[in-house]
Amino acid sequence: MRIEGKEYRTIWFENNVVKIINQTKLPHQFIIKDLKTVKDTINAIKVMEVRGAPLIGATAAFGLVLAIIENNDQSFLKKSAEELINSRPTAINLKWAVNRMMNKLSGVNSDKILEKALSEANEICEDDIKFCEKIGLNGLKIIEEIYNKKKDTVNILTHCNAGWLATINWGTATSPIYHAHKKGIPVHVWADETRPRNQGANLTSYELNEEGIKNTIIADNTGGILMQRGEVDMCIVGTDRTLSNGDVCNKVGTYLKALAAHDNNIPFYVALPSSTIDWDIKNHKEIPIEERNSEELSHLEGLDEEGKIKKIQIYPIKSKAINLAFDVTPAKYVTGLITEKGVCEASSEGLKNLFK
Ligand code: MRU
Repeated sequence: MRIEGKEYRTIWFENNVVKIINQTKLPHQFIIKDLKTVKDTINAIKVMEVRGAPLIGATAAFGLVLAIIENNDQSFLKKSAEELINSRPTAINLKWAVNRMMNKLSGVNSDKILEKALSEANEICEDDIKFCEKIGLNGLKIIEEIYNKKKDTVNILTHCNAGWLATINWGTATSPIYHAHKKGIPVHVWADETRPRNQGANLTSYELNEEGIKNTIIADNTGGILMQRGEVDMCIVGTDRTLSNGDVCNKVGTYLKALAAHDNNIPFYVALPSSTIDWDIKNHKEIPIEERNSEELSHLEGLDEEGKIKKIQIYPIKSKAINLAFDVTPAKYVTGLITEKGVCEASSEGLKNLFK
């Protein structure tokens, strides 16, 4: 997708270096950062220079490529794989991508392993782009249906950033929106600010602006009243881990939006590539929910009057805060799952039918 008219992907490999768009600097600064070692990739995932389930998976895959360049040794590779999987706990894509790489590399001779690793990491990216594009085409049909009935702008609410910045290209939740826009369907997006890290304001609104899509940032608690007023036609969100029964774990606050949508009879869709499905965990209580530093709540970063980036404390210094990063939306509140293979019911049956 485009930034200032130029096409980008969120991650690529060039001259033995992994290139990323440093998302902690957006929207005020556009900085491409070089990751040169596996430690750099682990750190980039932890501090969220790269974030979003599919993108951290791809970063972990390239992390293994860098590990091989650094030290072409099986025990170093295994240790790196473990550390990458543990760099953030909730999104299943980390484990998915690392396992896919390690399976491909098992038994490969050391003189061939780098070539194999690089080709697999690139393939993970290509697959993600294809999947996200298909998600877009499948979700487009739902937006089109709403538009054909309404004959007016389709208002879509989304939470966090499940945009192209969270993937390699297109995004998951945003892909149907980009496809609708390209087809000339008028769309407008309500972008939940998504405290505490503001991915909705800083990333979703930013990327929609760059693509010329109308959007409005709302405080996280505003969605409910907009729904009651009939100003939301549908919700589309992403997911970090989808259970085989259709329960969806996504950025904290998603659950409350689903409840409000349910109460107002508004369709609530979740868009996901199959790399986000966890076929093993049966009960959502077993999903490891990331708890991040409470400084993300108590401090804010932005531009000061002179246009310089400044970090300020906004809470009473003595106050305690808790920062749970994800929550789970039970399948019963999800209207449908938009996947690369089609749209299905959020249920074991629905998922089984698509992914036999
Ligand atoms: O903490 P983040 O910014 O990595 O959380 C991202 C999300 O919650 C996204 O909705 C999710 O990863 C889906 S991305 C296509």
